[in-house]
Amino acid sequence: MDKLIISGGPRLSGEIRISGAKNAALPILAATLLAEGPVKVGNIPHLHDITVTMELLGRMGVSLVVDEHMNIEVDCSTIREFFAPYELVRTMRASILVLGPMLSHFGRATVSLPGGCAIGSRPVDQHIEGLVKMGAEIETDGGYIHARAKRLKGVRLVLDLVTVTGTENLMMAATLAEGTTIIENAAREPEVVDLATCLNAMGASIFGAGTDTITIEGVRRLNGASYDVLPDRIESGTFLVAAALTGGRVKLKDALPGTMDAVLQKLREAGAEVTVGEDWIALDMHGRRPVAVNVKTSPYPAFPTDMQAQFTALNVISDGTAVISETVFENRFMHVHELRRMGASIRLEGNTAITSGVPVLKAAPVMATDLRASASLVLAGLVAEGETVVDRIYHIDRGYESIEEKLTKLGAEIRRVPS
Ligand code: EPZ
Repeated sequence: MDKLIISGGPRLSGEIRISGAKNAALPILAATLLAEGPVKVGNIPHLHDITVTMELLGRMGVSLVVDEHMNIEVDCSTIREFFAPYELVRTMRASILVLGPMLSHFGRATVSLPGGCAIGSRPVDQHIEGLVKMGAEIETDGGYIHARAKRLKGVRLVLDLVTVTGTENLMMAATLAEGTTIIENAAREPEVVDLATCLNAMGASIFGAGTDTITIEGVRRLNGASYDVLPDRIESGTFLVAAALTGGRVKLKDALPGTMDAVLQKLREAGAEVTVGEDWIALDMHGRRPVAVNVKTSPYPAFPTDMQAQFTALNVISDGTAVISETVFENRFMHVHELRRMGASIRLEGNTAITSGVPVLKAAPVMATDLRASASLVLAGLVAEGETVVDRIYHIDRGYESIEEKLTKLGAEIRRVPS
């Protein structure tokens, strides 16, 4: 397992390009299972989760052609098995996204239950209940979801809670169902909209993506298409926090500011000067120490849970006390214990963290536990006195394309070593 070693101190400054969004690329690659012809997906980030998805599709017999720019052409006409094994699903829970498309296009699917993960139990009951209401026969046995359906039927679904991949799975399944499906209490994330736009380019008939009510008129077939994935708003937010935390400045190219209002608002509250254009975002801290900001995570368009750990790292070196509430996942404060090892002052009370800013953090050996927690430890290392060693960074490689190269380009002193 590799480690990242970061020497704190340099004020970041410079420009970087934002990669395509992991959480749009994953459902869109699953959606290729719905098409009668090849689907070419572009702007795909070079991440471990993408590699796992390609391995999963390849094992099913799906044809994949990848070029040097990570454009992936997928042709599911060669599919020979409808099975997503535990050994792959447990390393990447988003594999559950092949369930809806496989069932809707081929009438059968056997997909491992994802099981929990570090940040929570993360059940998939909404995915399963929705498909059953659409006429699927589903039993869970031996840790697997066994699903069968002649042709799914369009129905009105009211989700018990806002679920991103739940919305995506059901929306994909509904594209080939008989009749119209309405998904109420749908997730509004930009990645859901990106998936719907791609599906419509393939010939689907989806309305309302981005609102809490999505209508899908079933069609007989979906065709091949070409589609580029939207920029990653969480990678963008992470690098903006890196600049703010070091008192520096950064310009993000190929970014999408319109998907980040809540995060940009909090960065301005923290004292950053933030300016935006159609496809860029610039932040300048002018050497000032940030001011601690209160944060409460909620489904989009509210403040994203995937930015909570990064803002916790920002708050612990900011001026003042603030409250961070995590309302989406039940165990997403594991970075707190590691930040404390670096001298952070944080009190945990249930799903709330109260931070009291300290002027200096001290480098320490710390351990990544999940994707965004590992990012927050790297961020803290950028300002901690001394050399911070972040272990188990395979977590970070799941969600950030060459993070140390991009940070080095901004002036950080960071290197990867095999452990
Ligand atoms: C997606 O996960 C993202 N992953 C997560 O990003 C993100 O943190 C999360 O949405 C919330 O925004 C992808 O898009 C691949 P949920 P997802 O279903 O869909 C509960 C990252 O860092 N729930 O919206 O799995 C669930 O336990 C990852 O890139 C049910 O109870 O999240 C959670 O408490 C981490 N039953 C809440 O809903 C269900 O059937 C929201 O989960 C589904 C979800």
